[in-house]
Amino acid sequence: EREDSKDRENPLLDTSGLPRFSDITVSHIVPVIMQLTRQLEEGLQEYEHRLKPQPSDRSWESVEEPLELLVFPLSYSWLVVSHLLSVANSQELRLVHQQVQPVYVNTMTRLAQSFPIFLAHKPIRELNTEGQKLDRVQRRILESFLHGARLAGVELQGGKKQRFNQIQLQLANLTTKFKENVLDATKAFSITLMDRLSVEGIPETARRLLANNAVAGTDRSSDPEKGPWMVTLDDPSYDVVMKHSQDRQLRERLFRARVTRAAAGQFDNSVIIQEIRELRRETAEILGYKNYAELSLSSKMAKNVEAVWDLLNFLHNKSYPVAQRELESLQEFAQNHSHVGELKHWDLPFWAERQWESLFSLTDEMVRPYFPLERVLSGLFKLSSDLLGIRIEPADGTAQVWNPAVRFFYVYDEKGTHIASFYLDPYSRPQEKHSGAWMLGFLDSHNHHIPPLGGGIYLPACLLAISLLPVSGPKPHGNCSQEIELHQFGHGLQHMLTTVPYAAASGINNIEWDAVEIVSQFMENWLYDRDTIMRISGHYQTGEHLPDDMFKQILRGRREEGGLSMLTQLYFAALDMELHSRWV
Ligand SMILES: *[C@@H]1O[C@H](CO)[C@@H](O)[C@H](O)[C@H]1NC(C)=O
Ligand SMILES: *[C@@H]1O[C@H](CO)[C@@H](O)[C@H](O)[C@H]1NC(C)=O
Ligand SMILES: *[C@@H]1O[C@H](CO)[C@@H](O)[C@H](O)[C@H]1NC(C)=O
Ligand SMILES: *[C@@H]1O[C@H](CO)[C@@H](O)[C@H](O)[C@H]1NC(C)=O
Ligand SMILES: [Zn+2]
Repeated sequence: EREDSKDRENPLLDTSGLPRFSDITVSHIVPVIMQLTRQLEEGLQEYEHRLKPQPSDRSWESVEEPLELLVFPLSYSWLVVSHLLSVANSQELRLVHQQVQPVYVNTMTRLAQSFPIFLAHKPIRELNTEGQKLDRVQRRILESFLHGARLAGVELQGGKKQRFNQIQLQLANLTTKFKENVLDATKAFSITLMDRLSVEGIPETARRLLANNAVAGTDRSSDPEKGPWMVTLDDPSYDVVMKHSQDRQLRERLFRARVTRAAAGQFDNSVIIQEIRELRRETAEILGYKNYAELSLSSKMAKNVEAVWDLLNFLHNKSYPVAQRELESLQEFAQNHSHVGELKHWDLPFWAERQWESLFSLTDEMVRPYFPLERVLSGLFKLSSDLLGIRIEPADGTAQVWNPAVRFFYVYDEKGTHIASFYLDPYSRPQEKHSGAWMLGFLDSHNHHIPPLGGGIYLPACLLAISLLPVSGPKPHGNCSQEIELHQFGHGLQHMLTTVPYAAASGINNIEWDAVEIVSQFMENWLYDRDTIMRISGHYQTGEHLPDDMFKQILRGRREEGGLSMLTQLYFAALDMELHSRWV
């Protein structure tokens, strides 16, 4: 009984609703993960024994639903731990994570490799083809369960299985270490600028950010005009300097630091990349695939490695000549504007921006005031209401958050019923938060078979994380973020508005990775729809919508630089394919 009351005190064990972030501390993690892994292992044993020997006695309700129930507490708590690692990273948390990760991985491997469970899923599927009434969602879940179990090594025996499991532990270690190195290498680099000339050309909002960076953690106050200014490698700071600083040497230093980030010294990821490749290759071999790319594609929509290369080559052929013309025009433009010599990597963003401004008589700073975050959000919410009949309302304070800047919202359906919720973590925090933008599903839509402790049912909930400039002061946040906001919002909508009652296939769960971007990319196009732009824009002082001229210029400008940016994306894809399919 004493243990019982202690359990209730550990907020990480509380799965009755959204995580109690203000109550959860690093010290709660080890006991909870230890307890929940033990519980899951015991529960599994019992479950395996209970599985009916006769295939004809097994039903969806007796096989699948109890399993979901069994796994939920551990996977939910683990999700919270992983989430904290990406938004509130600290040395303390890392040590604890390191301690529990192998325990977690072992338990999940034990689950994934359970042969009785694997067998129990097969007959359900077969019965179904003989006319049992499993619906499409259930069939989808079973099929991907079986495939997932094979990829998790369920059919392996003896030494092969041992080696496979050891590799999974090592891979978990290495991928965690990889992310830590990126974060640490980013944190370790900064340039402090004392000379006003170095920030010449950098828009005022961004100068204020750099000045704030320079005095962070001290009691000095910042001065965006006199400096000092501090430049770092996280996206908002990097982008703004590369696009606007007239100090070419500064741009070169920053470019070099960024492309060699975590590539040498204390936070060297190059060895780790090589180890990950080797272990993935071995995993693929053990499972009978030619290489890891083939293994990975076995659960994606692209048919095979060749099909991927065909698409990449096709796009490359189309975009290469376009990119070449863009580059030539940029070179000429730069020379016309006093640039001497060939454009280098660290000149491209700078001159592209100048060319864009000159072609369309539009600068970031002109567009920026029309897109304050609040305005963009309320416009987005109106758009969702028109398109989907939902209503989104701020609900800050009704859920605990991990950082005071995090916002919280409720989603209601047409009848006014609360159907989902989401967090928005809007700002870049290079000291503790991963860079970039992502969506994370916290709670899935579950059928009534996993009632939260307090009764009722779980509503889907997710996080939209983006990395805006954390500028404080009178000026609002600039454009360049709407696309990302709309993109993540698209993922979020798909997660939250799901009508699938099983976690294993609700929202974006179980959608192939190479198809999961459809909704989010689709949402981005609204930015080029006049009505929408008018709705999400509103000058931070006057409330005026984006002037029509500016919008027309944005539409024209959209066609520019398509070739170069396509090549960048193709490069990422090709590199990934090379690393995982060729062995050099
Ligand atoms: C994982 O990392 C921890 C801590 O660095 C280490 O003690 C452990 O041996 C590693 N495990 C594997 C399988 O590499
Ligand atoms: C791309 O162009 C090259 C050379 O012109 C050609 O050999 C190749 O077949 C093309 N590939 C595709 C996928 O179009
Ligand atoms: C460069 O300047 C020349 C001469 O003024 C002009 O004809 C040309 O269009 C300019 N090129 C670009 C890319 O701006
Ligand atoms: C944001 O500004 C950039 C130029 O700085 C421009 O390319 C882009 O179209 C703008 N987007 C919107 C939606 O205003
Ligand atoms: Zn996406």
